[in-house]
Amino acid sequence: MASEGKENVLVGVIGGSGLYHLDNLTFVKHVNPETPWGLPSSPITICALPSGTLVAFLARHGPGHTLSPSAVPARANIAALKSLGVRAVLAFSAVGSLREEIPPGDFALPTQIIDRTKGVRPSSFFEGTSVVAHAAFGDPFSVRLVGWLEGRVRRALEAAGRGVRLHTDKCIVCMEGPQFSTRAESAMYRTWGGDLINMSVLPEAKLAREAELGYALIATATDYDSWRPHEGSVTAAEVFKVLQANADTARHVAATILDDLHAAALEGDILTEEIGSMKFSIMPRS
Ligand code: ADE
Repeated sequence: MASEGKENVLVGVIGGSGLYHLDNLTFVKHVNPETPWGLPSSPITICALPSGTLVAFLARHGPGHTLSPSAVPARANIAALKSLGVRAVLAFSAVGSLREEIPPGDFALPTQIIDRTKGVRPSSFFEGTSVVAHAAFGDPFSVRLVGWLEGRVRRALEAAGRGVRLHTDKCIVCMEGPQFSTRAESAMYRTWGGDLINMSVLPEAKLAREAELGYALIATATDYDSWRPHEGSVTAAEVFKVLQANADTARHVAATILDDLHAAALEGDILTEEIGSMKFSIMPRS
């Protein structure tokens, strides 16, 4: 079996709430790279698919889910994956749904983000340095990677036979938490064009862009948040009820597509937007 190295571990998977390991993989080893921004949320598991392809898996909230969304060391996470040679990150996250047509249990591939993290979280590798850099973020997810995923994730969900649908081209609101939104906020996000809500996609997506990594989010709906006037507002208990089934489905999707994703990352076609994208982002010194 190949050992991981800059050329071998091209795909990193970030697991969110409920998704703390992947299926159908052979454990190779744990690595815990110390980065200039500290250690990642958890040691990274390097594992092999049945084909021998290596992938890196990182549990965003740490072993045993000990890190709140605001405490996730996102800079260390992205830097640690990059240090292993990862080029494409497939992130999973439990989300609330702001749309009737996205019921709990369904999956979505968002293409836009509204930032409601209020600048609380360090969101740039350049913070605290004398370098001023402005990454392009109009399309916060990798357009090519998301396009590549659409058909494959949909087919994987159909093959799973659980009736889980995939919604595409959605806008996700990222809020600070840890409390859920008020009913007024939830209703407001709908008028803003939000379709989904979570606490984790930022600053992860921003940092992946600065690191020139392809980044896509598979959002797994757990609840209807708090916008439905005649229903109770979201509770953690409601979210926990759906997490396990969503995680099982997410593992099935990952096991189905990771080999092809590795091959696509190796070819590089799905990553042409990201590679070199920071080259002209740094302000020249006068
Ligand atoms: N994660 C899962 N459900 C959520 C919700 N309703 N709001 C914010 N983050 C969530």
